Amino acid sequence: MNAHAPLAHSADATNADEAIARQDAMTAAMTSEQATAVAMQDTLLTPRFYTTDFDEMDAIDVTPVRAEWDALIARMKADPNRGHFKKNEDWDHVDWEGMDPVLRAEFIDFLISSCTAEFSGCVLYKEMKRRGSNEDITTLFQLMARDEARHAGFINDALREAGIAVNLGFLTQQKKYTYFRPKFIYYATYLSEKIGYARYITIYRHLEKHPEHRFHPIFKWFREWCNDEFSHGEAFALLMRTDPKLTSGRNVWWIKFFLTAVFSTMWIRDHQRPVFHDALGVDTAWYGQEVFRKTSEISRQVFPITLDIDHPRWRPNLDRMERGSVQVARGRARGGLGGTATRLAGMAKCGWGFVALYTIPAIRHDMPESSVMEPAY
Ligand SMILES: [Fe+2]
Ligand SMILES: [Fe+2]
Repeated sequence: MNAHAPLAHSADATNADEAIARQDAMTAAMTSEQATAVAMQDTLLTPRFYTTDFDEMDAIDVTPVRAEWDALIARMKADPNRGHFKKNEDWDHVDWEGMDPVLRAEFIDFLISSCTAEFSGCVLYKEMKRRGSNEDITTLFQLMARDEARHAGFINDALREAGIAVNLGFLTQQKKYTYFRPKFIYYATYLSEKIGYARYITIYRHLEKHPEHRFHPIFKWFREWCNDEFSHGEAFALLMRTDPKLTSGRNVWWIKFFLTAVFSTMWIRDHQRPVFHDALGVDTAWYGQEVFRKTSEISRQVFPITLDIDHPRWRPNLDRMERGSVQVARGRARGGLGGTATRLAGMAKCGWGFVALYTIPAIRHDMPESSVMEPAY
């Protein structure tokens, strides 16, 4: 998602007017229609809805990982988080009116983006359950759809207090669906589940130490929440484990591609919300690296490589992509020939940065006998 609303904190003095105009646009009151329009956006940076070859997925045979599979499904069926996603006495009053307008705008942006991403999972999983006939697969996808529906609904509840609701029914019918072959769904979805876990738990642990920065009660719900995401990631790890070809040979290049794309997208998106991260008392770059580190450690359970996030080329090129994306947004906002030139220059910068990141040698390692892990952060 993002109406972005490129950065309002541009250091470039010549763009001060633009920055102010952007800030005005961001802080204007948002309606539910606008929120839904934001969720409808499809750019490289916004959460997408996916569709795939459901028959191929339905044909997966989980026999090679049967024992681990049954244990995971049993845990998910036991539904430890039934009842968690409800407001209770821990849900403090939120002073939306008194909130700094830029923080409010960025936080709402964060909530809409998260809600769309959660709901995107729900839509994909529900469709798999509907189309499938393989009981192992349909059971898993039914359980995951259940969780994601709760997650999206809970965020929507939080948004409703600010007078905003994303129209999820409308999104289901009208948002564009991107086709990914099943193996790309495995890589992308596995990573988004595990990075989701790492993001939620990192914020949760940080706010445990610094409760004065917890400016909204929803963060209190993050620990149990991220355990759901962890389990979803475990399921995709097992699915990939059923076929060693998925994580070897040429596919390792695809894995590297998805790792690089998911990490760099997160970096860019998070840097679009400087005030939100300030309010949390979190340095955006520290947070990014911390989430990458946790996700890398976890993904060793199934991927034979991890990205070298301490390589000297890593940070400078993430920053290059971030600057490029600001330029693209600025060009798009300006329009006309000048705007197009700015946009193209920004895209070139992003492309250059991506290639520079992709060509950093990856760290190879042996995969463990079993992929099973516990959420340990
Ligand atoms: Fe979720
Ligand atoms: Fe999930």
